[in-house]
Amino acid sequence: MTQLNTELQELIAEMERRRAKVEAGGGPERQAKQREGGKLTARERLEALLDPGSFLELSTLVEHGRNRLMEGVEAPGEGVVTGRGTIHGRQVFVFSQDFTVLGGSLGKMNAAKVTKVMDLAAKTGCPVIGLNDSAGARIQEGVDSLSGYGEIFYRNAVYSGSVPQISAILGPCAGGAVYSPALTDFIVMSRGSSYMFITGPEVIKSVTREEVTFDGLGGADVHTRKSGVAHLAYDGDEAVLAGIRHLLTYLPQNAREEPPAQPCTDPIDRPTPRLLEIVTPDQRKPYAMHDVIRELVDEGSFLELQPDWAKNMVCGFARLGGRSVGIVANNPRVMAGTLNIDASDKAARFIRTCDCYNIPILTLVDVTGFLPGVAQEHAGIIRHGAKMLYAYAEATVPKITLITRKSYGGAYLAMNSRDMGADVVYAWPTAAVAVMGAEGAANIVYRREISRSENPEATRAAKIAEYKEAFDNPYVAAAKGYIDDVIPIEDTRRRLIQTFEMLRGKEETRPYKKHGNIPL
Ligand code: HXC
Repeated sequence: MTQLNTELQELIAEMERRRAKVEAGGGPERQAKQREGGKLTARERLEALLDPGSFLELSTLVEHGRNRLMEGVEAPGEGVVTGRGTIHGRQVFVFSQDFTVLGGSLGKMNAAKVTKVMDLAAKTGCPVIGLNDSAGARIQEGVDSLSGYGEIFYRNAVYSGSVPQISAILGPCAGGAVYSPALTDFIVMSRGSSYMFITGPEVIKSVTREEVTFDGLGGADVHTRKSGVAHLAYDGDEAVLAGIRHLLTYLPQNAREEPPAQPCTDPIDRPTPRLLEIVTPDQRKPYAMHDVIRELVDEGSFLELQPDWAKNMVCGFARLGGRSVGIVANNPRVMAGTLNIDASDKAARFIRTCDCYNIPILTLVDVTGFLPGVAQEHAGIIRHGAKMLYAYAEATVPKITLITRKSYGGAYLAMNSRDMGADVVYAWPTAAVAVMGAEGAANIVYRREISRSENPEATRAAKIAEYKEAFDNPYVAAAKGYIDDVIPIEDTRRRLIQTFEMLRGKEETRPYKKHGNIPL
């Protein structure tokens, strides 16, 4: 008996030794270096992300794929910590790259740990969250490492739209490695300590002679302001991880479920009289659409995505009566809210994200049209604008459109008019639906009459007034049934909640196809 116990003790000690080695990652020195830059270690990040005590580690004792160059190399945990945990009590799968182990570089077995949790997430219908902090392909493993990336990219694409995938960028993310996050639904970056690029500053310098820093090339500010690659950025690891916990509250576990409803303390029938001060009938007076959104939705529930990129378009999640909605809105404060290439891309992508995950869409319209310009035409505004039209028509979630002021021309359609599939269209009395603004219309339609008249300016003014009277209002469209109702501005919140409630459980089918062919 004593003999057996000793044997058992040795076995247990061996297991503990192995586990402790893995848990120590790259060792205290490298961990201290990691913390120097204000960064957390891979395991500390998981603690901050997940509900306390909920982490269950998987593939703990996996070792690197042996080859001649990896002979004698130690890689505790294979440079990545993987498993499951809960966030607000709901299960998620996670992988957290460990920069202290071979720079978090990705080899064959490292990738196998990642794909294991991706597969489990897909099978059990749970989100996957990747915490990226890696020097990229493990050079010593050559093509095995590239293959590892391929296996991850493949799953990113195959599971896209099935379970939410979220990427945190908390350190380097370079070369082809950027394409895993790019294939996920959301990218959240830490400011000052993360970067993403395809080719680094050194290569760029040798090829184009441009000189640029890591941060200037692919830091959080670049990707949230210029490229539109990232959706959100925060200062520091903790804030990024808290941001991801918050983001998940708007999302369902998978494409078969609805997002979870939250208790709503903001009265459902709360009047919204402040809107009367924000949106005036003076079409030339811009207002911040954010103020309108905040007034309408449950108090404090608006989470804007990509707030600093393509600011003429506002996209984000919010709650109405405790239920998640996606909001797509023109922002008349920026470029008069016109639709350009970036705005179209931003909205189209967001509409599809909402549709994947059963999040109803509220579209707020105040738009004069697509942005005129040679540069926009030559860069393919036709192709990009088409994405919005396609995304709205394709989306089968409940869709409500509210026209706050102008809705003109092609942009009227691109912002989800009745014909493009809106289930219900409302307008405020301040709205105007027409092919174009009164001045432009009068100048085209009555050009000859104006130029031949004895007093062209007086005739022009009269014709503009005539056109305004006829079309610059919501009533022509309402009379033809394109608008379901012109509603009191101060009663909007109650009506939106009531209408989304009416649309719950909506089903809409599409003709058989393998998949649609969105203009990319
Ligand atoms: C294996 C690597 C590695 C790599 C770094 N290390 N990069 N090991 N493969 N790609 C190791 C280092 O030897 C070191 O080990 C430890 O990780 C930390 O690296 P440092 O250089 O000391 O760290 P730091 O000074 O912070 O610099 C970080 C870095 C730099 C800027 C990321 O390491 C770097 O430039 N690495 C190479 C990046 C790269 O070219 N990757 C391939 C990209 S192409 P010790 O033992 O000393 O701690 C790619 C293609 C993907 O990824 C294709 C997908 C289709």
